[in-house]
Amino acid sequence: MSTTILGLDKQKTENLVNELNTLLANFQVYYQNARGLHWNIKGKNFFELHMKFEEFYTDAQEKVDLIAERILTLQGTPLHTFEDYTSVSRVPVGKNISNDVEAVKLIIGSLSELLKIERTILDLSDEAEDEGTNSMMSDFIAEQEKTLWMMNAWLG
Ligand SMILES: [Fe+2]
Repeated sequence: MSTTILGLDKQKTENLVNELNTLLANFQVYYQNARGLHWNIKGKNFFELHMKFEEFYTDAQEKVDLIAERILTLQGTPLHTFEDYTSVSRVPVGKNISNDVEAVKLIIGSLSELLKIERTILDLSDEAEDEGTNSMMSDFIAEQEKTLWMMNAWLG
């Protein structure tokens, strides 16, 4: 079997890089969703949600960087153009959403989609014995599941 400088299977690493790029693209769309909600939210929950969405896009920005740098560590090339992001992304795109319930539902829909991709990566990294990617995915999944619980609790 041919291996990378990290000692990982080359083919499995390539598959992982592709899936990590899918996650990166989807995170960028999620980031932009959270930005849009931070800007456009209206109503009695404005202050609470305006701040919450800022927390979400700040967190997404950090994770985007971690994903891209993991791709580079695996000797891949991170996607970085809007064109590539929109062609790969499955996260629902929210436009001009100002209603609080609709906004929270968009976050829930986005996070659910990200979780699916992260679980696929978790399986692939497990298979490839890539502990670095595997533990990163475990952290992301646990955090996002907790956020999903809280967003669902907010909806009542
Ligand atoms: Fe702001």
